[in-house]
Amino acid sequence: MTATNLAAHWMPFTANKGFKEKPRMLSAAKGMYWTTDDQRQVLDMTAGLWCCNAGHGHPHIAEAIAKQARALDYAPSFGFGHELSFELSERLAQLAPGNLNKVFYTNSGSESVDTALKMAMAYHYAKGNTDRQMFISREKAYHGVNFGGVSVAGLTNNYKAFGQWLPNDRLSHTQDLTLNAFSHGLPLHGGIEKANELETLIQRHDASRIAAVIIEPITGAGGVLPPPVGYLKRVREICDQHDILLIFDEVITGFGRTGNVFASQTFDVTPDIMTTAKGLTNGAAPMGAVLAGDHIYDAIVNNSGPGVEFFHGYTYSAHPLACAAAMATLDVYEQEDLYKRGAADGEISQYFEQGLHSLKGLPGVIDVRNYSFIAAVEFEPLAGKPGATGSLVQTSAWEQGLMLRSLGEAIAMSPPLIMEKEHVDQTIGILERSIKQHLA
Ligand SMILES: Cc1ncc(COP(=O)(O)O)c(C=O)c1O
Repeated sequence: MTATNLAAHWMPFTANKGFKEKPRMLSAAKGMYWTTDDQRQVLDMTAGLWCCNAGHGHPHIAEAIAKQARALDYAPSFGFGHELSFELSERLAQLAPGNLNKVFYTNSGSESVDTALKMAMAYHYAKGNTDRQMFISREKAYHGVNFGGVSVAGLTNNYKAFGQWLPNDRLSHTQDLTLNAFSHGLPLHGGIEKANELETLIQRHDASRIAAVIIEPITGAGGVLPPPVGYLKRVREICDQHDILLIFDEVITGFGRTGNVFASQTFDVTPDIMTTAKGLTNGAAPMGAVLAGDHIYDAIVNNSGPGVEFFHGYTYSAHPLACAAAMATLDVYEQEDLYKRGAADGEISQYFEQGLHSLKGLPGVIDVRNYSFIAAVEFEPLAGKPGATGSLVQTSAWEQGLMLRSLGEAIAMSPPLIMEKEHVDQTIGILERSIKQHLA
């Protein structure tokens, strides 16, 4: 492709000028590998954008989408239904923890987040607590790019030009390199103290004004930060004491990434509302789902008159092709036993962990952190070039046939759950070379 015919596409979250000078084009994908337009094989250690958990090009998913397109290409979901979305909802409710039995469809993680925030507000409104319109989120949080998600974001670049329009305050993030650098799995220190900050914020704003706390069980785009031991449980306890809802943004942690279907099961903490997307369809069709507790649905639906109860929804909510993709994806996860494959104490997770931690001691490496099939390596910033190290290592890895995600001074990995030891070896070898070459 020439520079001219790349011009029209304004690419998302991309350095457009840089990309168009030196494009990185993908033309096919199968299993753990991409094929580039110059016919190179590139190992996908990010499952695309944390979404292709069963690997690429699964025939069962592809066939389900094609078959559905021939049978029912579209069905409006405002006041009409089609069978597949009800089947899928029942299946998701069975997979979800606690009473998260009500499923609301969106088309992305960002839409799931905004839907969850609105559900929390609508819940309190329905119960007559109309002052509860504020949210507590967290520094380094990424909750998508729509205005609700941006309002509760904790990454400055994502809101500085747009404002934060919902009342919001933030807990501090949980990263602590002094206490927890090179943690294997969950960081051991500081969980309870960090969670107790929520009490301070509640005192500052008063519980009667707070609708919900929204957090990612594992911070993803903000640097891959597994929760310190005890943190999530303590947050849940404090929310319960003050009738504040807890929203888990499981857009990246859902569907097997932590050794269970959802991270809330892995960490044994059930939220009131859970957002999902990405792995729901293995990335093969845009879809998100918000799982709400029965109490959320009942409060909103039972306290309404005979008409529409929740004034919210999308033209493509419960799109038949996405439902077909999701049903087939859940089949694959079950048939190939992929949910368990990511268990933190499983053979492949342990092998990955050992490989990653062997990078300790290489030039510039200041942290390695991981939980199950999600990991990051963080580097010392280069003098005069803040934020450059992640993309330096990412570019070098790409040239050697490895896709990583760069996050400022870190690179992140979230491999498909079909990863084998040979893929770990390939990754660690390339990472070692890239780090020695660029950071020594
Ligand atoms: C935790 C979390 N929430 C929401 C989103 C937004 O998802 P999407 O890009 O599908 O809108 C993401 C995307 O990475 C995410 O990581």
